Amino acid sequence: MEIDPWASKGIKNYDEICEKFGLEKIDSSKLPNPTHLHRRGIIFAHRDLDSVLNARKSGKSFGVLSGLMPSGQMHLGHKMVIDQAKWFQDLGGDVTIAVADLEAHATRGLSLEKCRKYAVEEYISNYAGMGLNPEKTSIYFQSERSIVQKMGFTLGTKTNLSEMEAIYGFSGNTSLAHVQSPLVQAGDIVHPQLDEYGGLRPIVVPVGIDQDPHIRLTRGMVSKTNWFNVNNNKSGNLTIGLSIQDNNQEIMGIRSDGGIDKNQRKMIIDRAISAINKAGYKEINSNPKHGTIDVKDANTENRAEIQYELLTLERQLGGMGLMQPSSTYHQFAVGMTGGKMSSSQPETTIFLNDSMKSIEKKIKASFSGGQSTIEEHRSKGGNPEIDVAYQYLRYFFEEDDNELNKIREEYISGELLTGEIKAICVDKATTWMKTHHELKDQNQHLVKDFLN
Ligand code: TRP
Repeated sequence: MEIDPWASKGIKNYDEICEKFGLEKIDSSKLPNPTHLHRRGIIFAHRDLDSVLNARKSGKSFGVLSGLMPSGQMHLGHKMVIDQAKWFQDLGGDVTIAVADLEAHATRGLSLEKCRKYAVEEYISNYAGMGLNPEKTSIYFQSERSIVQKMGFTLGTKTNLSEMEAIYGFSGNTSLAHVQSPLVQAGDIVHPQLDEYGGLRPIVVPVGIDQDPHIRLTRGMVSKTNWFNVNNNKSGNLTIGLSIQDNNQEIMGIRSDGGIDKNQRKMIIDRAISAINKAGYKEINSNPKHGTIDVKDANTENRAEIQYELLTLERQLGGMGLMQPSSTYHQFAVGMTGGKMSSSQPETTIFLNDSMKSIEKKIKASFSGGQSTIEEHRSKGGNPEIDVAYQYLRYFFEEDDNELNKIREEYISGELLTGEIKAICVDKATTWMKTHHELKDQNQHLVKDFLN
């Protein structure tokens, strides 16, 4: 398995991942107000981000949904998802965050009480210092929002063990916790589209690349629930096809003997045509018997508008009318000892509740890309690609691109020594953390607002 969401081995080649799983690269020059994470290619790939960016451009609403595993201390790696969520919130999105207490319970063996404690004391209390707008942020527990569990069950009808095997590499002795959790996660991801949680609108899921298997699964299941498929046809236009499913046979004009009820079929095709008209497209040819509608004045670029109207119609007819979620992915910062960052090995990362002293100690002991002697370093220079101090400045602590570039060049040239780049990192990291702790303390009252 290239990507295992429960035991990520660390990814060597991000380009290859994009290629293999059909992720699109992010071009930060096309983004509004890109952050340092976008500008530096750390948030590097997406699925269907345009549907969110287009909604924003035309003043329509969109949502952001992500989740946290409440199974230990919050560290810098976890912060990136919140940074992404905040960026989307600043662009106008409403933010929902799932506390994956059912997942942590099932896959890590923690009691739900313990999960709650970690979630509040480690994660949510740190989120309070990270600038999320409490009016537009809602955090919930999987175990307490029964609709996400129900949606997980409903979507589960659209997958099977073979698909799960193909996506996750499951085998006979895989615990069913790893079957259940992705379904609940799919429920998390789609539920903000339900009428009582904000209604039909694009939802973007900012996550680490390790979570892409869940996104792929969810997108696949969602598209299989859709009653109207919108596809490109050979002439470069769009064709809409009725998707006949167990729960919509009668509405789609299928008689109990399997034949076609012509009147009912005409009715459903006519309603689909008015939905397409409503999106602004008029040159239509339909074939009720086949259950297809060609739209000659629309092409790929108009797909989203037409689909939106058809999903609205599907809801009127009693279907779920779900859009496929969008997603963005961040890369992983190297662990401080040069391997993986891991909550269970405190020396590999900085926790948001670490003291200044422990931050200093960890950075000083961190893996270096410098040479072993000063003379050698002055002549050969350091390697910023593998240097933890440099990478942590790049990921977390130096937001100014010019400043970061200067450090990089001086390190490569050998002008900046290992001890010196570490000192810069300690300085920036402790400054950042002091501010964070202050903001966190000032804003603890937000915890209960988030949980409302
Ligand atoms: N599985 C995620 C993790 O391990 C947590 C999670 C649960 C999540 N539900 C989610 C992430 C929905 C994104 C969207 O971190």
